[in-house]
This record gives sequence, structure tokens and C-alpha cells, in this order.
Amino acid sequence: MGFIFLMNGGILDNPPDVVLFFGRFHPVVVHLPIGFLIMAILAQLATRWPKFKPLVMYLPLIWLLGAFSALLAVIFGYFLSLSGGYDEDTLFWHQWGGITVMLLSFGCYFINKKWSNSLSTPKWILVFIVGLLLMFTGHMGGNLTHGSTYLLEYAPNPVRNMAGLPSKVEPREKVTVLDSADVFLDLVLPMMQTKCVSCHNEGKNKGGLLLTSYGNMMLGGESENTIIPGDALKSELVRRITLPEEHDDFMPSEGKLPLTDQEVLLIKWWIKIGAPPNGFVTELDTEKAVSSLVSNYLGLDKNNLFNKKVPPPNRSIVDSLIRHGFVINPLMKDNYFLEANFSLSEYDLKAADIDALLELKEQLVWLNLGNSHLKDAYLEKIGLLLNLVKLDLRGNEITDDGIKHLSKLENLESLNLYGTKVSKGVLDLVPKLTRLKKIYLWQSEVSKETITLLKEQNPGLTVIFERD
Ligand code: HEC
Repeated sequence: MGFIFLMNGGILDNPPDVVLFFGRFHPVVVHLPIGFLIMAILAQLATRWPKFKPLVMYLPLIWLLGAFSALLAVIFGYFLSLSGGYDEDTLFWHQWGGITVMLLSFGCYFINKKWSNSLSTPKWILVFIVGLLLMFTGHMGGNLTHGSTYLLEYAPNPVRNMAGLPSKVEPREKVTVLDSADVFLDLVLPMMQTKCVSCHNEGKNKGGLLLTSYGNMMLGGESENTIIPGDALKSELVRRITLPEEHDDFMPSEGKLPLTDQEVLLIKWWIKIGAPPNGFVTELDTEKAVSSLVSNYLGLDKNNLFNKKVPPPNRSIVDSLIRHGFVINPLMKDNYFLEANFSLSEYDLKAADIDALLELKEQLVWLNLGNSHLKDAYLEKIGLLLNLVKLDLRGNEITDDGIKHLSKLENLESLNLYGTKVSKGVLDLVPKLTRLKKIYLWQSEVSKETITLLKEQNPGLTVIFERD
């Protein structure tokens, strides 16, 4: 047999495409011998019971199917190994495990064919060994594709420790304020984990490079200048992620989801400041070069109201509003933002209610005062509820005079003026509401012309003017 050349993959340094093509079928084909051989082992065991004795005549056939499909898997597996990038030790054991399983399966075939009725001990030992080797080889194959930590990644710690793995690391808590963002743990490492480690892990260190931890990254890969602290442009890693996507060396390869422009910038910055293993972005970013980029990247937009923590509301004020017909609900589990709704109340809205709402100014983000006999005069105070994100004023007799008081509501994203008496005044108001995304103006006194103007002047805005 010509398997000796398996020992050194160097014989075929530049394997032709057709070889690599068949190699890719190894993971598919390999399930055939697994299936046949498990069936063969079970059938062999079953023949010990008189009832299953007749199976004996099929045993050679099943073993032969197992052996030949194992041979096919071995060949394709060898082709696959030529594409390189696999952990050498694991590959060695997987390869020879597979070859041995294949040879022993042919052995089982011959034994069952020649001495079909003997129950000799050597035969059983052989079958047992095939079973064990099959499991071992399969496991090594799994480690090759998924990395040796894959199987026990979610195992309980005692099981992990028994297998010589460290206890699970607690997942890092999501950063909520920029001051606590760590340059490596919150920026660089998560990028590697989502976009790179599928090929650069312990089982499959493509290019000799592991991107699973700080230490491994700094060890680098074949190029020896993978990461040069302080010099982003000389770092191979930066070269790889900034090439045109169609370039052969571009990373991630094989059309995998590339890093975004933001991510590339952040990695370059990290290397430029010396590729530190940790440290707070705000402290490292002495030139304020990336802080706003980082807060945007981590979704920590400082102006975003919902990233603020608000104190709990005054209980007695909430209770009094509820007694006056308000429905008040918390909006989030871990923050005290509130929604207040008066639109279903049977009472009339009073000036005192508006004053009570003002006491909840910090917490109140959604307010529904639809059909509440609200007057223009009240809007002056409503305009002071600066945290409002959604305001519903539908069905009230309010006019342009009233809504001009709303111009300070810079968190407002949705404003409902359906069925009110407002008209041209919206043209002045809307540009001041910088976050406004949606305005409802159906059955108000706003003319078609005003709507056209409004849309022209505020391209990002959704104007709802017809019943939809
Ligand atoms: C689909 C698999 C795959 C993914 C995903 C992938 N790589 Fe690679 N990488 C490879 C292969 C294969 C090589 C070796 C062949 C080569 O040099 O192009 C390599 C080589 C490299 C090298 C050169 C090693 C050295 O130091 O000489 C660097 C750097 C690298 N990758 C970085 C990355 C980064 C960063 C990512 C994530 C953005 C990434 N790779 C994602 C497959 C991948």
C-alpha cells in the first residue's frame, strides 16, 4: 500500500484543484463508514443470541461495506489534509486512527467470512478494538474541525477540569458606559471571536496563527510580523484586513464576513498605541482619537436617553396620578423609565395632573394624552418633559400656538397630532425636534402643500397624513 507517503504531506506541496475538490467531501463521506461499522459491531454482538443467529450470513457484507467506505474516507481525508492548516498532532492521530480502523475492518471481514461460526476470543477483541478506535478517530476529527475545546465548551466545570481544561470563564458583562470599556477584552477579542477564530483556533491554526487569546495573537503566525506593537502599517495582520477583498491574502478568507471599517480602524489604533493586553479606552485614548467611535461601536451613544440610569419615581405621585385616571407602567426591567396613558380615562385632565407629571420628568418617556380635552395652555408644561420619546396628543383641540412649546423635546421620536387643529406651525416645530422620526398629521388642519414642504425639508421623517 502506498500510504507511506502520508507521513509527510510535503510530497504534494501544491495539490491540484481536483484533489482539494474531493478532499472537501471527506466530512460527508466519513459518515458512511461510521454508520456501516457501528451496524457491523451491533450485528456481530447480536449474533450471540440465538434469535439473531441468522445475521451471521450478512456479517461479511456489512464489514466489507464498512471497510470500503472507510478506505474512501481515508483517501478523501488525505486529500483534505493537503490543504493544510490543521493541528499536526491531532491530524497525526486522526489519520492513523482512520487508517487502522479501515485495515482492521478488512480484517473483520476476512475473519467473518472464513470462520463464520467460531466465537473465538480474538475475534471479539478485534471487534472491540474497532469500536474503540472508531470513537477515538471520530473525536480527533471533531477536534480538527472545531478545536479541542469545542466538545466540552458547555460542560460543567468538574467535567472540564477532569479533561484538563480550565473552568469556564464567566462571559464578560456587556459594557454600558464608555469608561469601563477595555481595549482588548471589549474591542479586539470579540472581533477576533466573531470573525477570525473559526479558522485560527487550536485545532485549525491556519497560517500558523491562533487568534484565541492575547498571548496567542502576540506569538503571531508564519510571517513573524503578524502584530508589531506600535507600528500598525508594518503588521501583517493589518495588511491582511486592509487589502482589497478580492486579494488572495485578504482576511477573513473564503468570503467570510469581513471586518467593518470601524473595526479595522479600531484594530489599527490598538496596534498603534502599542497593542496593550488591556486598559480602558478612555485612558489610552489621550488624543481623543477613537472615543466617540468606540462608544458608537459599542452602542453607547452618550446622547441616547436609554443609556442613562434614572432614579426611582416618587411613589405617592405615581399613586395620585393613577387615582386620577392615569395608567402608568414601567418600560424596562432594569431602569425606571415610565409610560403614562390618560387616553382611556373617564375624567378630565386637570392642571394639577400636569404638575404631577412634571414631578416624573426624568422617568417619563412615553406619554399618551389622546382625547383628553387638553388645551393649548397645558402644552407649555408638557414641553418641559424633556425625556419624552413618544408623545400622543391626538384628538385634542390644540393649535399652532400650543405646539410651539414642544420645541425643546430633543428626545422626541414620535409625535401624534392626529385630529388636532394644528396647521402650518409644524413647519417651524419639526426641524427643532432633531430626533423626530415619525409624525402623525391625519385629519389635522395641515394642508397638502404644507405636508409636501414638510417632507421636502425633513427627508428622514415619516409623515403619516392618510389613514394607513
Ligand atoms: C475561512 C478561514 C479564515 C478566516 C475566517 C480567517 N482566516 Fe486568516 N488565514 C486563513 C488561512 C488559510 C491562512 C493561511 C494562508 C494565507 O497565508 O493566506 C490565514 C493566514 C492569516 C494571517 C497570516 C499569518 C501570519 O502571521 O503570517 C493573518 C495575519 C490572518 N490570517 C489574520 C486573520 C484575521 C485577522 C482574521 C479575521 C478578520 C482571519 N485571519 C480570518 C484562513 C482564515
